Amino acid sequence: MNFKVPRGTQDILPAETWKWQQVEQIIREVCDVYRYKEIRTPIFEQTELFQRTVGDTTDIVQKEMYTFTDRGDRSLTLRPEGTASVVRSFIENKMFGYPDQPVKLYYSGPMFRYERQQAGRYRQFVQFGVEAIGSNDPAIDAEVIGLAMDVYKRAGLSKLKLVINSLGDTACRSAHKTALIEHFTPHIDEFCSDCKTRLDKNPLRILDCKVDSNNPLIASAPSLSNYLNEESVAYFEAVKGYLEDAGIEFEVDANLVRGLDYYNHTAFEIMSTSEGFGAITTLCGGGRYNGLVEEIGGPTAPGIGFAMSIERLLLAMEAEGVSFEVAPTLDVYVVTLGERAKRAGAKVLSALRTNGLRADMDYTDRRMKAQMKSADRLEANHVIVIGDEEVDEDVVMLRNMATRQQEKISTAEVVQKILQADKEG
Ligand code: HAM
Repeated sequence: MNFKVPRGTQDILPAETWKWQQVEQIIREVCDVYRYKEIRTPIFEQTELFQRTVGDTTDIVQKEMYTFTDRGDRSLTLRPEGTASVVRSFIENKMFGYPDQPVKLYYSGPMFRYERQQAGRYRQFVQFGVEAIGSNDPAIDAEVIGLAMDVYKRAGLSKLKLVINSLGDTACRSAHKTALIEHFTPHIDEFCSDCKTRLDKNPLRILDCKVDSNNPLIASAPSLSNYLNEESVAYFEAVKGYLEDAGIEFEVDANLVRGLDYYNHTAFEIMSTSEGFGAITTLCGGGRYNGLVEEIGGPTAPGIGFAMSIERLLLAMEAEGVSFEVAPTLDVYVVTLGERAKRAGAKVLSALRTNGLRADMDYTDRRMKAQMKSADRLEANHVIVIGDEEVDEDVVMLRNMATRQQEKISTAEVVQKILQADKEG
């Protein structure tokens, strides 16, 4: 039997992890500059947490969760997203009591959704996300959006489109909901069975149904923008003002509703406009979630955040032809001939590594020529050659691979010699 990675998952091999590490480094640096601190939450949570936050009628909860019963008969779910866990932790750890509000957190880790696999869509993917919880200031909305844009810019992306919308507050949402029910009710037979149940519970979800997306009644549905009250309009205007001041270009799209239930006021997505990018162009999505902390038992603490998958970020970098830093090569490769030389070589190797030099040697008893080939392939800066003669004299042959010069040098001095050469080189 040949085993394969489960559908929708992938192995990330060393040539790729090197790229991941560079992107992760950018993320850490940008978060540091904006004073967002890392939080790590478990990969699974109580199922009900996602039902209550992401929403019972969403595709994520209805169709995409990896839910299982553990041996203690508890229903647990592999997290499909990070906001629910962060908000749970915010409440559980009483972060609302921290003197500096909002509490600014970021996370990066695997999320799981049972989705149809296609380019840029996986069943296990890594989301980097931030959450700023404890402020209702439109300036923080612009900060969060700015942080996401900075990550992309630092990663070398330029073909980006930021789309924003306001989903209003509870009052506007409820007026809009009534209008949607009136709009869809006479024609609900034309829709899928999920949409039929969504009609009364949460008609907004009909608008992002993957099955009925081409039904013209979706395009002609009443727009939330016509139901925004004065307060919501003022909030949205303030967010736009802050974005303009920060020089962040955006488009307003009244049809942007997002696929999770906890949003209100600001919603946004960042797309790649690069031609080489596949069908799925959304790189990042986020928005405000006032009321979510209360919804799961916490005090009033309005929040906003976003998440982006690293997979899509890397795909966008590839589509735009961004070049990655070259991976560092070996400082030293130790070539040994014979058993005694190998023991001496292992000792030198250990001293090199203790001094922070990247060093390796052969462990398959190959001939000298093959070992030298490895040194070339691994682009070692120096090669140390040890044979019986060198062991007897307590020396090594040190070759500089750039100049091809070599010299005999005492074993005790070789590490210092290489460190010195690296400093000068
Ligand atoms: P979301 O729109 O469901 O929002 O996902 C955010 C991002 O995660 C997407 O834009 C995409 O980059 C990535 N993503 C989602 N599903 C997949 C998939 N199957 N394969 C690859 N990448 C994927 C959220 O998850 C919210 N928690 C965002 C948020 C944080 N809102 C407020 N705070």
